[in-house]
This record gives sequence, structure tokens and C-alpha cells, in this order.
Amino acid sequence: MSSSAVTIWERGRLDARVGPRQVLFGRMYEDPRIELDAFPAGGRIFCIASAGCTAMRLAPRCDVVAVDINPVQLEYAARRLEGDPGFRGRAERVMDFMRFFAPLAGWWPARVRRFVQLDEPDQQMRYWRRELDTWRFRTALDALFSFTALRSVYAPRFLDFLPKRLGKVMRARMERCFSRHPNRDNPYARSLLLGELSSDPPPPEASRIQLVHADAAAYLESEPAGSFDGFTLSNILDGTDERYQRRLAAAVKRAAAPHAVTVLRSFGDGHAASAANRAPDDRSMLWGTVFVRPAAEL
Ligand SMILES: C[S@@+](CC[C@H](N)C(=O)[O-])C[C@H]1O[C@@H](n2cnc3c(N)ncnc32)[C@H](O)[C@@H]1O
Repeated sequence: MSSSAVTIWERGRLDARVGPRQVLFGRMYEDPRIELDAFPAGGRIFCIASAGCTAMRLAPRCDVVAVDINPVQLEYAARRLEGDPGFRGRAERVMDFMRFFAPLAGWWPARVRRFVQLDEPDQQMRYWRRELDTWRFRTALDALFSFTALRSVYAPRFLDFLPKRLGKVMRARMERCFSRHPNRDNPYARSLLLGELSSDPPPPEASRIQLVHADAAAYLESEPAGSFDGFTLSNILDGTDERYQRRLAAAVKRAAAPHAVTVLRSFGDGHAASAANRAPDDRSMLWGTVFVRPAAEL
């Protein structure tokens, strides 16, 4: 396979600068309830390691192989599996920067904290409309999510596939979540709105997770055919070209046992109306699509 069928994530950076690879994600923003619902207990599951959160949640029920192309991120995940609380990665620091301006939009910490304590979606939506979804908030979010602003932080390949008018799209995703899921027990409401990182310790089964430094497609090509019952691929296809997408799909299909299921997230919203899209059920609220499908349909 030619080296062009690989991915921008290999650089281990969100920006376009040349420099050492970084820990990009101190935590994952992918709700593992989706995976726990999709995968069979006792199955062998492929997942992307990232900060290790999904692997840790799956480990008590499944046999987990967690793969990451970024060795710095993989080492970070390994430390978290051993109980290290970890730290804020690049993604968290970008979000901290955005939250720094929140009071300018009327998002005072006490006001946001009251919102995060609510646990009834109708009440949440009333509070949201009255206290938080203000003209100043909408204007600020549109500015922060304008392509001009994002380009100063993210490499172009991470932006090309994003929906236009991203500020408006992200507001709609937040409202989709608040109108559906109680805030109080939603760890992603805490992390996104207050910047608090989850502090769940790893389960004892985390020691059984197999960590692998590899590209997902290359790793799956090297595994026995039919050897995985489930695949959770994060949003690794965001920002990749068609060749890599075809290569990964072929590798997954080959490595999939009959009836294996895939979970694939994207910030984009192509085919969002599909019945396979579970994005509204993902409490992390960020995703345009979270496709849960048989491996044969990837
Ligand atoms: C796709 S990123 C997105 C972050 C994720 N949504 C989260 O909430 O953690 C997650 C991880 O995938 C890894 N990654 C991206 N492409 C990969 C690939 N082709 N093979 C293996 N790991 C990959 C990155 O290095 C990063 O650590």
C-alpha cells in the first residue's frame, strides 16, 4: 500500500506546524454507552486508544485491543490505564481558551454550574433559552467557529469536511443534547461547559487491554480474517482522503467476524438522516454522525 493511503493524524498535531507529536486528547468525547449497547458481551473489540476512556469502559465486558497511530497519545493512554489521572491535552486547552471568553457572553461560572446541575430536559431547555443562548453567546460562538478563527488552530485537512456555519451547527448539537439527556449525570456537560475532566479510575480489567502503536488499517490488515466482533473507529476518517477510507473499510470487513458491528463518528453531517445515525444518543453532543452499522456496510 502506498504511503499516501495514510492519514493526517499520523502527525500527532492538530495544527499545521512542524513539531513534535503531542498528547491531543486528555479525555475522550465519545459516549461509550453507544459502544456498550452495540457490542456483544465477551466479544473481541477493536478500538482507537486516544485517551483510553472507551477502552476502559469496554474492558469489563469485552476483550479490547486499543490502537493509536500517535505514540505520544498511546503512551498517555497506557499511563491512564495504570491509574494516572492524566492532564489536559491540546483539545482541552483549545476548549479552555474558548471558555476563557465565556463571561463576556454572560456565561458566568455560577450560571453555567446551575445549568449543569439540572436534571430535567424541559427545565434545561427553558434555562438554556433564558440564561445561556443569548445574542452575545451566539455571536461569540459564530466567531470562534468561523473558518478564519479555526484555521489559526487547526490544519486545513481537519476543517475541509466540516459543515458550513459551524457555530450554528454546534449550537443545534448542544440543544439536541440538552433537550434529551439530563445534565446532572452527563460527564460531557461538565467537561465541555465547566472544563472538568472526568476522574473515574480504571477498572481492574484495564490491565487486560492490549495497546498497539499502529495505523488502524495497517493493524487490521495484519490480523487474522474474521477475528473481531466489533470496531469503534472514533472519527479517524475525518480529514482523510478516499483512498484511506477505502483501505480502512476493506481492512475492517476482512477482520470482521460475521455479524460484527462498527461504530464510526464524524464531525461532519453527511447522511445524518440515516436510521443508523445514533448521534442524538451520544451525550458528548459534538458529533454530526455516529453510525452504528454491520461491518459489511462500512
Ligand atoms: C480520531 S482522534 C479524535 C478524538 C476523539 N474523538 C476523542 O474524543 O478522543 C482520536 C485518536 O485517533 C488516533 N488516530 C487517528 N487516526 C488513526 C489511525 N488511522 N489509526 C490509529 N489511530 C488513529 C489519533 O492519534 C487520536 O489519538
